[in-house]
This record gives sequence, structure tokens and C-alpha cells, in this order.
Amino acid sequence: MSERQPILSVRNVSKHFGGVQALDKVSFDVFPGEVVALAGDNGAGKSTVIKAISGVYPYEDGDIFLDGKRIAFATPQEARDNGIETIYQDLALADNLSIGANIFLGREPMKRLFGILPAIDRKRMAEAAKETMKRLDFHVDRLDAPVAAFSGGQRQAVAIGRAMYWNARLVIMDEPTAALGVPEQRKVIALIQSLKAEGKGIIFISHNLRDIFEVADRIVVFRRGENAGERTPGTVSADEIVRLMVGK
Ligand SMILES: Nc1ncnc2c1ncn2[C@@H]1O[C@H](COP(=O)(O)OP(=O)(O)OP(=O)(O)O)[C@@H](O)[C@H]1O
Ligand SMILES: [Mg+2]
Repeated sequence: MSERQPILSVRNVSKHFGGVQALDKVSFDVFPGEVVALAGDNGAGKSTVIKAISGVYPYEDGDIFLDGKRIAFATPQEARDNGIETIYQDLALADNLSIGANIFLGREPMKRLFGILPAIDRKRMAEAAKETMKRLDFHVDRLDAPVAAFSGGQRQAVAIGRAMYWNARLVIMDEPTAALGVPEQRKVIALIQSLKAEGKGIIFISHNLRDIFEVADRIVVFRRGENAGERTPGTVSADEIVRLMVGK
């Protein structure tokens, strides 16, 4: 039998900002079809590690492997082109653009007018938007409206839809439920479960332990930039996770 290879391996990654050691030799893996939750108090280094993975910041020390190959992306676009979709807390959607335009942001499909002039293929973008939102079972009245008009949950769905459309191998979500009402939180949890069912690797960052226990296969706890422990939801209590987070 062949060993299962992780989609992502983070090995002894360190990063500092001035005098602050934001990450100190952190390591964790993400396997196909697995949801890995990153837990930790404010400032523990959760956002920093996902930004190191997704090309927002360079990391100084250690290694990050995607499908066994070392990566050090210079930009988030480069990470996206390599199958890593990151849904940042602020979502990084372009408010003034439609769902379709957001799905294709930076990767617009082109066609040729009169067989010569290159032009953006808006029809294809609109069709992709419709298809994607349908696949997510997310109802939107006006598909062509700018996403600024959408609720937090709908915006999350657009960001998740973008990850699904491009068939990302790894989907990273930083606090995706923090700004949402309860029904929308449920919806996002369901979307994470469908990404998982498709065999994608998912990194889920949340302060909400209930969400973590519901959706995670593994919980990786950070404390002050270091690994504080790794647990499986079935065999650990929320109290123990909190103890790991704060250090007794
Ligand atoms: N761009 C930056 N410049 C300077 N310091 C930073 C920067 N980003 C993060 N830090 C520092 O690095 C440490 C880790 O921050 P990080 O944002 O990764 O924490 P976090 O675990 O995501 O916290 P939260 O749960 O509050 O989002 C903190 O001490 C923070 O102040
Ligand atoms: Mg953060």
C-alpha cells in the first residue's frame, strides 16, 4: 500500500516582524479530504502562517511543500495559479464587480471580436457565476449586481465558489464565519463539508470552538507563534483546547 501524501506540509516555518517572533518553527500537514483547524489566541500566528503559505509574505526559515514540492510564492496570484485559494477575513472580493467578474478576477476569459480583437468574454463569466452559485445551492436574485450589494454569507459563497470553480487543491479560510449570522454560518459550514467531500484540503481558522469541533478532522493549536499541540475533535474536550491555547 502506498503512503498517503499530504497536499500541504509546513515544516519548521519561522517569521518575525521587527522584534516580534510571529512564527517560531511551526509544522503541520493537510491531507486530501481533510479539514485542519488552526486554533489559538489573538496574535498566536494563525493568519501569519496562512499568509506565508499563500504568498502574501515571504517566510524566513523552514519549508512549505505542496504535493511534495517546495513552494515560496511571491504573490497570492502565484499561489492561486498553483491551486491554493485563500479566503481572507476581508474576503478580497472586488465590491464594484459582479459575481462572475470576481470569480475570474485576474484570470478573465478572453474571446476575439470579429476574429481579431481580444475582448473579455462576459457571457462565459456570467454563465460560470450562475453555474457556481447553483452548485453551491446559493440563491442570488441579481447575478449581475456588484457584490457590494450582497450579504456577508453571500460574499463568502462567492469566495468559496471561486475556489470551487478553479478546482483548488487547497482552500484556506481565515475566520470565514466571524461576521455572519447563524443561518449563514450554517451555510458556510455546509460548504466546507462539500469541499471536503470533493477531496480538497482545507485550512479553517476560527475563534469559534463549536464550528471547529463540528467541521475539523484535526485541530492544530498555536500559542505565541509556536505549535502548542495537535488533537482530534473526537478525543479532546473544548476545555483542553482552550488550555493548550492559553498554556494551562
Ligand atoms: N504585518 C505585520 N506587521 C507587524 N506585526 C505583525 C504583522 N502581522 C502580524 N504581526 C504580529 O505577528 C503576531 C501574529 O499575528 P497573526 O495576525 O498571525 O495572529 P493571529 O493568530 O491571526 O491572531 P487573530 O486571532 O487575532 O487574528 C502578532 O504579534 C502580530 O502583532
Ligand atoms: Mg488572524
